[in-house]
Amino acid sequence: MRSIAKRERGRGVCLGLSIAGITAWTLFAGADAFGAGSEADLGKKVYASRCGICHGDKGDGKGLVGIIHRVEKRGLTWVTYPRDFTAGIFKFRSTMTGELPTDADLDRVIRNGIPRSGMPSHIDVPAAEIKAVIAYIKSFSPRWKQDKPGKSIAIKKPAAVGSGASVAKGEKIWKDMKCWECHGEKGVGDGPSVATLKDDWGDPSVPFDFTSGALKGGPDIEDIYRTFTTGVDGSPMPSYADSLGEADRWHLVSYSLKLMGKVK
Ligand code: HEC
Ligand code: HEC
Repeated sequence: MRSIAKRERGRGVCLGLSIAGITAWTLFAGADAFGAGSEADLGKKVYASRCGICHGDKGDGKGLVGIIHRVEKRGLTWVTYPRDFTAGIFKFRSTMTGELPTDADLDRVIRNGIPRSGMPSHIDVPAAEIKAVIAYIKSFSPRWKQDKPGKSIAIKKPAAVGSGASVAKGEKIWKDMKCWECHGEKGVGDGPSVATLKDDWGDPSVPFDFTSGALKGGPDIEDIYRTFTTGVDGSPMPSYADSLGEADRWHLVSYSLKLMGKVK
């Protein structure tokens, strides 16, 4: 666990740098043609030009741009930091909690970016460069040598997701499973536990506000189900794979859609 003060000291926090500025910088730095060479060389170059400014040369999340997203709500302040790859902990995985993500998971996150966090989309980056940079970020943590990535969970969406009956069942599960302790009764992210929530790096962690903003893990119904099943590792958001059956996790998806105003 590292304290916030420690993090900020190591970071040369540069709040003045806007996202537009970063994009311009990464475009400029990425403009030189990558010559032929090994995948490792390519991965290192892509990382240096597009990722290091946030994730840091050593992959420890202490790049020039330290604090990338700041939230001030209900008298509390949170910040989102670039991921520290030396820990080998990943939030948005199709693999079970505690397991390493698949290459497809990393590819999706890098390509699409992470809404509400400042992690940009890299949709313009050629597939070979994304593949190479995935291999490169694995070099920052010994976990990738010790463990194998987990297996992706199977996701089969039932027809009843979003129906009135499923929403009602989901609401009951929301109450029984105490989702409201963190996310608040109406899902606006103001539950009684909020002030105490910290991530694995000791930094304050923001529960999702269902009424504002995009889901970090992806916009699809299947993405919400995946979050309940595999959890958001490194954050206080747990996996419910052991505590709720599959049908109940789908009812929770229905209730999430209701909280987000997507179904009645
Ligand atoms: C403008 C800053 C910025 C840049 C540039 C950036 N990232 Fe990120 N990245 C972030 C932030 C912030 C997070 C953490 C988001 C969160 O925890 O919600 C993150 C998270 C990640 C994650 C973790 C995903 C997970 O499931 O936990 C990966 C992998 C990643 N970035 C890869 C990359 C790669 C590869 C590049 C370069 C091609 C890159 N990032 C460029 C800011 C950035
Ligand atoms: C101990 C606190 C806690 C509990 C209990 C909890 N959550 Fe979360 N949840 C969080 C936090 C914190 C995040 C944000 C993680 C992040 O962005 O790093 C989150 C994120 C989410 C997300 C958004 C994922 C995304 O893609 O952005 C959804 C949906 C969600 N929770 C639903 C639920 C539901 C439904 C329950 C109950 C079954 C629940 N949560 C229980 C803390 C909690």
